[in-house]
Amino acid sequence: MKDILAADWLYYDSILHNAKKIFEFYNFQRIETPFIEKAELFTKGIGKKTGLIEKEMYLLRNKENNELLALRPEGTAPVMRAYLEGGMFNLPQPVKLYYFGPFFRHEKPQAGRYRQFYQLGAEIIGEDDAIIDVEIILISRGFLESLGFSKKNIYLLINSIGCPNCRHLYIKEIKKYYKNYSKQICSDCQRRLKENPLRVLDCKNEKCCLVKQEVPFILDYLCSDCRDHFKLVLEYLDYLNIPYILDKTLVRGLDYYTKTVFEFCLDGEENKTSLGGGGRYDNLAEVIGGLKKPAVGVAFGVERLMQEMIQAGKKFKTSTPKLFLVQIGEPAKRMSFKILEQFRKENIPLGENLGKESLRSQLKTADRLGAKYVLILGQQEALDSMIILKDMASGLQELIPLEKIIFEVKKRLEKTM
Ligand code: HAM
Repeated sequence: MKDILAADWLYYDSILHNAKKIFEFYNFQRIETPFIEKAELFTKGIGKKTGLIEKEMYLLRNKENNELLALRPEGTAPVMRAYLEGGMFNLPQPVKLYYFGPFFRHEKPQAGRYRQFYQLGAEIIGEDDAIIDVEIILISRGFLESLGFSKKNIYLLINSIGCPNCRHLYIKEIKKYYKNYSKQICSDCQRRLKENPLRVLDCKNEKCCLVKQEVPFILDYLCSDCRDHFKLVLEYLDYLNIPYILDKTLVRGLDYYTKTVFEFCLDGEENKTSLGGGGRYDNLAEVIGGLKKPAVGVAFGVERLMQEMIQAGKKFKTSTPKLFLVQIGEPAKRMSFKILEQFRKENIPLGENLGKESLRSQLKTADRLGAKYVLILGQQEALDSMIILKDMASGLQELIPLEKIIFEVKKRLEKTM
């Protein structure tokens, strides 16, 4: 877990700002769900036999009734719960929601993985048309481009994992294929093969990756409905000139997915961590709340976006005020609040250090902050309702009536713009 310091917030804010612009254009509305949910929501929704549920969920007990709660490890299941509990199925469908906030996973510490991290996620609930899958992909690409990543560096990996019916056939094939390799794969995969065979395709172990190379392609086992759906998705992508890589081992780590799954990477380097991913999850609403509502969504890791923005050379400057208020003596100190409030109402940033007494130390702070002008309010000026305006570069000082100071400052700031 890490602290988010002022310099980091510039990236977080910019990511949220760009997301807002594009998602709200496409009629998404913002939602925030609680950080703590009943653990059952995730075990049911994501699947008991996934790494996320087995190893990574932070659990706690409710003191009153001993109920098992969890720090939310992801946002899709909570958003779907909110959709169902909030009766959003009564609204015109589909309902489009986006979110930005912290999530918690008890991961092994490693580069790009945190135990508390931010996600920017978006979900479209209530529509099963393949064009909606492509809409979320198109918006995601637009969002990545708005952060400054170049079109040609954004890679889309895509696959279909079908529906429970056709996946059943594929899982039989996987088991058959892996029979010949049972000694070559890691102990985790040996267990996965018994408990949740699709997860073997997720394994990053070197030996398991070699075995994966010849694994049967799930697309050859899709039922006609899933095949037609995926064909349409690819046709729309072609029509929009969105490049993609068909990745037969892309299955995603969460059990709620059906049909289309995808991930976004930069550069397409092998083993590059994914910036974001998502897919269709047509059965989640039924599993959680007994209502059939098809849906599709995506989520991006904000820290990973930030890391890539830094690597791409994107820099933000912390803004420091061009003006600094220096006060000397008790009457001036008191009057400072009035002056600060006037400047705030005019939206002109004004630095200060009200706790300091001496002119020298306050001027030193102003200098360190890079202030262009300093306003000096001494005992006499406070009595005469005057203030000194000092140009830090030239050292020139002017005595100005307090009631005119905003006007005079604005004039000078306009000139320096
Ligand atoms: P996910 O792939 O588990 O999907 O997470 C989405 C993104 O969150 C990842 O691609 C990664 O960038 C970031 N992320 C995940 N874990 C960590 C971590 N420990 N530290 C830093 N970043 C991390 C989901 O969560 C799905 N709910 C996405 C979705 C939305 N599917 C449909 N709708």
